[in-house]
Amino acid sequence: MKIRSPIISVLGHVDHGKTTLLDYIRGSTVADREAGGITQHIGATEIPISTIKDICGNFISKLSIKDTIPGLFFIDTPGHAAFTSLRKRGGALADLAILIVDINEGFKPQTIEAINILKMYKTPFVVAANKIDKIFGWESHPGNSFTQSFQEQAPSVQQDLNQKLYELVGELHKLGFQSERFDRISSYASQISIIPVSASTGEGIIELNAMLLGLAQEYLTQQLEIHENAPAKGTVLEVKEETGLGMTIDTIIYDGVLRTNDEIVLMLKNEILTTNVRSILKPNPLEEMRDSKKRFQKVDEIVAAAGVKIAAPNLEDVVSGSPLRVINDEEDVKKEILKEIEDITIDTEENGVLVKADTLGSLEAVVNILNQEKIPIRSADIGDVNKKDVIKASISQKEDPDHGVIIAFNVDVHPKARRELEETSLKLFQGNVIYKLTEDHHDWLEERKS
Ligand code: GTP
Ligand code: MG
Ligand code: NA
Repeated sequence: MKIRSPIISVLGHVDHGKTTLLDYIRGSTVADREAGGITQHIGATEIPISTIKDICGNFISKLSIKDTIPGLFFIDTPGHAAFTSLRKRGGALADLAILIVDINEGFKPQTIEAINILKMYKTPFVVAANKIDKIFGWESHPGNSFTQSFQEQAPSVQQDLNQKLYELVGELHKLGFQSERFDRISSYASQISIIPVSASTGEGIIELNAMLLGLAQEYLTQQLEIHENAPAKGTVLEVKEETGLGMTIDTIIYDGVLRTNDEIVLMLKNEILTTNVRSILKPNPLEEMRDSKKRFQKVDEIVAAAGVKIAAPNLEDVVSGSPLRVINDEEDVKKEILKEIEDITIDTEENGVLVKADTLGSLEAVVNILNQEKIPIRSADIGDVNKKDVIKASISQKEDPDHGVIIAFNVDVHPKARRELEETSLKLFQGNVIYKLTEDHHDWLEERKS
């Protein structure tokens, strides 16, 4: 049995430092080159264990960490909420997560949203309290462990940091989690570790990595066992056109093996696509998948876990967030994928609101938030708002005026549907920040009640 690298999602509020943290670990400058300074796509990078060890130095031997894990597989997510597409359908794609919080800003809406989603998927996580170098009076010691750096600070700075940490502990407590600074933890099973770090100076990154390795070895090894010869299972992150290759899909393979010419099934908006793998392109180690462009290496096969670009015929309408399965028994695989479509699109009630979103992941996130708020959903689909949606919503409205609602995340409204909408008293919530949409809807409902 082979052990794969744990998949570690980095989540948190916009600009709290997710991409910069990964830049520090892989020695890159992705964040600097992002349009508008914002992450707009999902990234994936595998960091070999040797690099982690170089960063951690002899810290690892002190922790008596064994050598079974080949590396850490990081997923960078945008600060806004569509990151549920990174979850493997029917379970969590992320084995572990880092929740990043700017220690000087504290909890923000997206921080809370991230925690709620981690809670929902029961994903274990650590908190990286980032930007400690910006605490007033902090003396930076680039690359040092937190423990070393902390000892060098003036008492007032130490106190200030601890005070800010207690505020985080308080926020986590409100959300139902016990937490503590990592070096004061008494039970890893019941307490969340908070590791103070600076993604800019690298302070604390040693302990953060050591913590992740420790947790993975302690709690995940069974989950990380892969079936080296089994047909591959994966999740599509992005669908992209590449010069010379045509349409491609960036995919995380989390189990099994994928080979050139394998027959795979993928999800289109309303049906299943069966196609054949034409080529598998692997980014060089330490390269961001979305950043690699020509630095891909063509390979005949890859074993999980891996982030790869796949070229194949007819990928145009594949939905990002789609599951990928290699066909062994065609009927079984199709049933499995269809079931996953049903989980998303047909997990609805006779009456309720209408939801539309751009990807499976974001649709799922909206549905999950509405479920938590006990808002019934009549239908939830991927794609722009069309005339049919308006008709459906009107029927819902007749049953219950509160249900005359369309919630549209990151999609357009067709002009015809727009005109139709104007003739009705239906309520459209359209936007590209999930929590804002559901919050606006919540406020609207409250207002109606009063
Ligand atoms: P989104 O992906 O857009 O949600 O943002 P992000 O969480 O990836 O944050 P990003 O890495 O883009 O960092 C945002 C800004 O904060 C950049 O200007 C970084 O240089 C800065 N930054 C990140 N980490 C640190 C840190 O530890 N210290 C300081 N001083 N600045 C930091
Ligand atoms: Mg980012
Ligand atoms: Na940013």
